[in-house]
Amino acid sequence: MSTDVFIGRGFVMSTDVFIGRGFVMTQDELKALVGQAATAYVEPGTVIGVGTGSTVNCFIDALAAMKQRVRAAVSSSEQSSARLRAHGIEVVDANSVETLAVYIDGADEIDHQGNMIKGGGAALTREKIVADMSARFICIADESKLVTTLGRFPLPVEVIPMATALVARRLQALGGEPVLRAGVVTDNGGAILDVRGLRITDPVAMEREINQWPGVVSVGIFARNKASVCLLGTSQGVRTLSW
Ligand code: 5RP
Repeated sequence: MSTDVFIGRGFVMSTDVFIGRGFVMTQDELKALVGQAATAYVEPGTVIGVGTGSTVNCFIDALAAMKQRVRAAVSSSEQSSARLRAHGIEVVDANSVETLAVYIDGADEIDHQGNMIKGGGAALTREKIVADMSARFICIADESKLVTTLGRFPLPVEVIPMATALVARRLQALGGEPVLRAGVVTDNGGAILDVRGLRITDPVAMEREINQWPGVVSVGIFARNKASVCLLGTSQGVRTLSW
């Protein structure tokens, strides 16, 4: 185990802890590793927030082995709700809960400050809602998701369908190349624009800017409410980044 502490711009502190045996693992194995590791963040008897995606599916499956520890879950998608229920874990409405201790979710990209791009699974709006209800955001990801600057992964933006062309023009004016995600309707009845070509050097500012355009339901930049902890799956084991 090694512990490195970095103090960066804005006095952000990151603590890296490696736990593992040091052998090459597939991406699926790395997802399973961090899914299992995330169960340590579940406080017994609490209602937890659960995200969406293949990494979260590993977390839900790991949670099933200790489901008596979880009172219930607030879920960010119909897909995760179905998987939780299939394991016998109760899913409750977000409106029935005031706060959650933790929200556990994956990411499409995460930078060294804990800012993320999310929405590859089209669940970004509900993910933002559940994340906002939660005291801590525990991001689980394999090491391919860690980037220096967000934007290599096309940025998802959920829009009201009648505003798709309007929002696409505004995204082009920002320098992006938006493409409508074919055949996708979100759990909220929205459409998704995937935007290539953006180099997101100021995630907080870009999140604020795009979020306020009429017709935008939400943008997949999670910077105002970023990760508190990232459990990163690496061939050396789980690397824990904390902010
Ligand atoms: C869904 C998301 C997911 O967290 C993100 O796409 C990562 O997914 P995966 O764990 O399958 O790589 O934001 O909207």
